[in-house]
Amino acid sequence: MTKRTQVAIIGSGPAGLLLGQLLLKAGIDNVILERHTREHVLGRIRAGVLEQGTVGLIDEAGCGRRMHREGLIHHGIELSLRGQRHRIDFNDLVGKSVMVYGQTEVTRDLMDARAGIGAPTEYEALNVTPSGYDGTQPIVSYLKDGAAHELGCDFIAGCDGFHGVSRHSVPESALTVFERVYPFGWLGVLADVRPLSHELIYVNHARGFALCSMRSPTRSRYYIQCDASERPGHWPDDRFWEELRRRLDPEAGAQLATGPSVEESIAPLRSFVAGPMRFGRLFLAGDAAHIVPPTGAKGLNLAASDVHYLAEGLIAHYRSGSDAGLNAYSARALARVWKAERFSWWMTSLLHKFSDSGAFGERIQLAELEYLVGSRAAATALAENYVGLPF
Ligand code: APR
Ligand code: PHB
Repeated sequence: MTKRTQVAIIGSGPAGLLLGQLLLKAGIDNVILERHTREHVLGRIRAGVLEQGTVGLIDEAGCGRRMHREGLIHHGIELSLRGQRHRIDFNDLVGKSVMVYGQTEVTRDLMDARAGIGAPTEYEALNVTPSGYDGTQPIVSYLKDGAAHELGCDFIAGCDGFHGVSRHSVPESALTVFERVYPFGWLGVLADVRPLSHELIYVNHARGFALCSMRSPTRSRYYIQCDASERPGHWPDDRFWEELRRRLDPEAGAQLATGPSVEESIAPLRSFVAGPMRFGRLFLAGDAAHIVPPTGAKGLNLAASDVHYLAEGLIAHYRSGSDAGLNAYSARALARVWKAERFSWWMTSLLHKFSDSGAFGERIQLAELEYLVGSRAAATALAENYVGLPF
């Protein structure tokens, strides 16, 4: 069965959903094709720090009410360095803040808004295959309930994440890939316990990195650096809490509330960029084109900024016939992507334990940390990047 729309969006993650809402607001039809169920997509626990630009886009999409009601405004973060805490005051340094609100909640709000206006999402769409985007009549074919379907469109937005089909449908010769895989992972635990602090604490410790984050005043999210080969089953809750407490400064360690984990997972750390982000009438956005290590809290925010540039280009195409935005999309998006890649790599290099750094490398890391907590200029640079560079 052949259907038609203006923009076919592959992937119902935050990138695909946010793009879908912004286009609908501008009167542009779109269909989202998602290989999993709604519940599966919402079952993934992901980070939750939103830059002001991302908050603005979610508002523009008309999906910000619960975010503003339940989200936590943070005016700074703390760095715990070798047992001492140092606050980076965003308000004082750059006059801005961030919003702590889980990516799962953002995804849920966008899905509810889309369902609320009856906009089409095909969940459990299998064998999704984009084609013809080097011509003028792209098609996305897929299987649904065993029946073959074809979706004709003007443009395809590949918002299907790192393992999605969109980037993999592009000939390797047309892609340039940049990658750094870090020799460690993050073991994350979600627990319904009071957060340790009202702001995030990023920890550099001789035993490895740790992060104290939260989802609400009663739900905490903690991470510790672990070997890349680790398995969640190796970490019973007690062992996790014990190891986390060992990496915290004494005051924080004493205040740490512990309890049973409601979710535990291990995430590998990698920096990845594939360019360009446009192939004819196929546009890649979000994790489909780039991955950042989570240390800079940039993953979701980069997906949002890609969507900002892509929506602008598509809306101008349909409103005024101008393709200037679409033609500039890849360069504009990649320019911001690389700055966030640099910041995320820098935060990762600064705060993690590298087994191959050697004595000189360790001293350099320490000197960088001491410079950072002693220099307003250095702290301002961190704050400026953390709250989000302009679009
Ligand atoms: N066909 C249809 N859907 C697919 C396919 C496919 N072949 N492959 C993947 N998908 C779907 C996935 O099931 C997922 O729901 O595409 C969606 C991609 O969503 P995300 O991986 O969340 O990617 P994105 O929307 O770009 O969001 C980036 O997610 O991983 C975090 O840190 C990252 O915060 C960042 C955000
Ligand atoms: C999270 O809350 O899960 C989180 C916050 C900040 C990060 C990474 C993850 O840098």
